[in-house]
Amino acid sequence: MRSNVISYLVLLSFMVAGFVTLAVAPGATQSGTEPAEEAEVPYVLPKSGPFHPEQINIANNEAIANWYRSAHADQAAEAFRHWDEEEEIAPVCAVCHAGEGFRAFHGLDGSAPGLPATPVPTGGVVDCGTCHNAGLAEIEAVAFPSGLMHPVQGVEAACLTCHQGRTAGSTVAAKVTGLEEDAPNPDLSFINPHYATAGATWLGGYGGAGFHFEGKAYSGRFFHARPVSTCNSCHEPHTLEVAFEPCLTCHQGDAPEAIRISRQSYDGSGDTSKGIKADIDANAALLLDMVRDYAATVIGVPILYEGHRYPYFFADANGDGAIDEAEGKAIAYNAWSPRMLKAAYNWKLVTSDPGNFAHNPAYALELLHDSIEALSGPLGVDMDELGLLR
Ligand code: HEC
Ligand code: HEC
Ligand code: HEC
Ligand code: HEC
Ligand code: HEC
Repeated sequence: MRSNVISYLVLLSFMVAGFVTLAVAPGATQSGTEPAEEAEVPYVLPKSGPFHPEQINIANNEAIANWYRSAHADQAAEAFRHWDEEEEIAPVCAVCHAGEGFRAFHGLDGSAPGLPATPVPTGGVVDCGTCHNAGLAEIEAVAFPSGLMHPVQGVEAACLTCHQGRTAGSTVAAKVTGLEEDAPNPDLSFINPHYATAGATWLGGYGGAGFHFEGKAYSGRFFHARPVSTCNSCHEPHTLEVAFEPCLTCHQGDAPEAIRISRQSYDGSGDTSKGIKADIDANAALLLDMVRDYAATVIGVPILYEGHRYPYFFADANGDGAIDEAEGKAIAYNAWSPRMLKAAYNWKLVTSDPGNFAHNPAYALELLHDSIEALSGPLGVDMDELGLLR
């Protein structure tokens, strides 16, 4: 811990030097305003002393402290420890799981843009140089799994590169097209949209992250309102927390989760005193229940969902409530039909984004509604009776 803090301080001093150079146009020489020797000495300690620690003023102290206790700096998290055994992160994963991989991907380290040429050592986090990088300003668009090239400005390029998930509705479509809708198919397996997919849900139908049912229109990017239309207008970029007070300029309620503008009920409860998040959560819970019913009654192979165990959906062929095992290993669900895979995929996409209600409530509600509708037919569930609103 302590040695980490120190290494960040050293890093920080390089950063300061970095900021100075960044201000200079490529190829230009540094003007005489900054004494040359200052820029060359990468120490945060003052030149004379002795000083008491509290007298040493560390520039960027607050940013570092805020970042240090955020998820981006959490070296103990599964998102950074997952590759401990291999001791290196495969290029395709390193893009989002280490600052070094991210820089390689965007060519910010001098390499050609694209996947890192070699695996990246473990131990990296979302470090300062991921977002504080002059090269970010030159990235004009970020590619999404759907193939969309979304125009970006500045640090938004960083957030959207990593928080876009790894699949799109088209990934699902490619697997199921031409297959019989309700026939279990052992060649199908669960398609996981990955995690913290905020950027993808934020772009809505335009981003194409969800599976879009034929004949339905989907809400596009959630423009919201001008002061809260980018990632960092809500999330403090170092703590990553969302300050609630600014929301109260336009909303009422005692927490983000309690915010509601819609005067209609989407979940059939008729209750419009709760936040829109509650409608989304209720419909998501209903959808998961229907996936379970469909697996048990239409497919004939019951399914179990385990949120902390990849690939999340497991087989329970004898319906005893315990995951089936073969040679001591859990059996992933293996009787997916196209209809069920689409619904489960949309469910996972929506619930993978804990901020879905603030990132794009309309898109979340549409994906849930249409997936519920798709399962309702074979299950004999009357949509009118559910009273959902799309
Ligand atoms: C497009 C960016 C991106 C790519 C590519 C990516 N990930 Fe992730 N991954 C993320 C983000 C963002 C999270 C953080 C989710 C959270 O914990 O909030 C994450 C989380 C994880 C987690 C932690 C899940 C948990 O339960 O906490 C694992 C494990 C993981 N990824 C594995 C992989 C593997 C393996 C690959 C390569 C095959 C990969 N990721 C590629 C963005 C990505
Ligand atoms: C996830 C992206 C991200 C990471 C990682 C990050 N920053 Fe920042 N930082 C930003 C953004 C965006 C701003 C601009 C904030 C604004 O304009 O309001 C910023 C602003 C700053 C500022 C200006 C003062 C302030 O707090 O707004 C300093 C200093 C700073 N960062 C230092 C650091 C240091 C040092 C690290 C690593 C310990 C770091 N940042 C990591 C995104 C990041
Ligand atoms: C290099 C990839 C990368 C970039 C760039 C990045 N993130 Fe992240 N972000 C991650 C990973 C990985 C996690 C999960 C870390 C963990 O589980 O500790 C995460 C976690 C988060 C979280 C969840 C915090 C929590 O408590 O779980 C938020 C919010 C977030 N990022 C917002 C942002 C914003 C806003 C930006 C742009 C300023 C950004 N991220 C840029 C990879 C990235
Ligand atoms: C209107 C404000 C707003 C905007 C804009 C916004 N978010 Fe969020 N975000 C939230 C709220 C509210 C949550 C719910 C969790 C919380 O309160 O921290 C959240 C949650 C998240 C989480 C999950 C945190 C966790 O606890 O696991 C991530 C990751 C995230 N946002 C990333 C982003 C990214 C990336 C962008 C830009 C594409 C973005 N957000 C834009 C308000 C916003
Ligand atoms: C400048 C005014 C303004 C601010 C500030 C603002 N919002 Fe909003 N918010 C709106 C408007 C307008 C809508 C309706 C937008 C639409 O439906 O297209 C909305 C809609 C929402 C919704 C969906 C409500 C529903 O019933 O569909 C949520 C959730 C939300 N905002 C959360 C937040 C959070 C969280 C913050 C603070 C981080 C915030 N808003 C800050 C104006 C604002």
